[in-house]
Amino acid sequence: MDRKPLRLAILEGERVLTAAGIPSARAEAEMLAAHLLGVERTKLMMFPLVDQSVVDSLERLVQQRATRVPLQHLTGAAALGRVTLAVGPGVFVPRPETEQLLEWGLNRLRGLRNPVVVDLCAGAGGLALALAHERPDAEVLAVDNDPTALSWARDNAERRRLAGDVPVHVLEGDVTDPGLLAERERGVDLLVCNPPYVPEGTPVPPEVGDHDPPAAVFAGRDGLRVLRHVVAHAARLLSPGGGIAVEHDDTHGGSVPALLAARSELTDAEAHNDLAGRPRFATARRDPAGDPTRSG
Ligand SMILES: C[S@@+](CC[C@H](N)C(=O)[O-])C[C@H]1O[C@@H](n2cnc3c(N)ncnc32)[C@H](O)[C@@H]1O
Repeated sequence: MDRKPLRLAILEGERVLTAAGIPSARAEAEMLAAHLLGVERTKLMMFPLVDQSVVDSLERLVQQRATRVPLQHLTGAAALGRVTLAVGPGVFVPRPETEQLLEWGLNRLRGLRNPVVVDLCAGAGGLALALAHERPDAEVLAVDNDPTALSWARDNAERRRLAGDVPVHVLEGDVTDPGLLAERERGVDLLVCNPPYVPEGTPVPPEVGDHDPPAAVFAGRDGLRVLRHVVAHAARLLSPGGGIAVEHDDTHGGSVPALLAARSELTDAEAHNDLAGRPRFATARRDPAGDPTRSG
């Protein structure tokens, strides 16, 4: 059968994606080709010639991407830390912006044995599963209130369990409920959260506006509607010395650290940037002064 040069199909994909305004057009065309061939992007040179069916499939995926369907919906996968999650319609796609928060959380757990970790607003389960992957001694709980997100998170948790990671408990819960996880009060060593935080009415790219669930993105006029509850949960749930890391909008670089600093139970409120240097998450810990058995 007539075989075709993959390089030409990728170049054509790059051309179409560039015309559609996609910034990393070449990289994305290669990622789609790698997805179709079931290999890592770095291995594409091992496939100089491909069947016409591969060229046709690549063209179809490129056309879909050109209409701004998220790349991760087309490949069905998104990575956070060292885990790859299944993602698709109805669930928020984990972003590289969250990597620094994950790293902070892992550092925070250093030196603690059998830590209890809670991921609020867990979506597909990225933070919970990435933390569980690194810390097999942890008890990890992932909470979300959206049935579709919960279903993706449960599937991802099961896949990671089968791959040998510690099981993550995926729970239905509403972060606006003041009694959430009441049985865990003062018992959580690390609380991580990437909540919805975009102020209502903020223009967002089509990948977000047309494909991420609105309740996963927007949170009231100031973007803090869910986040305020998260701070209150930290004050209640964290063990003495336990840490919270919460992601926020790049316009919240002052307000979210201030929300944390305003809680008398918390100390060491700090602002952090993401890899692109934008204000992205805030951290604090529960003041250990009241409990001599634990130190921060
Ligand atoms: C920005 S997404 C983040 C998902 C995941 N943490 C990540 O980084 O990929 C926010 C998530 O918060 C969930 N959410 C929104 N409001 C919530 C609430 N009141 N209680 C629990 N989860 C909520 C949404 O369903 C969505 O999955």
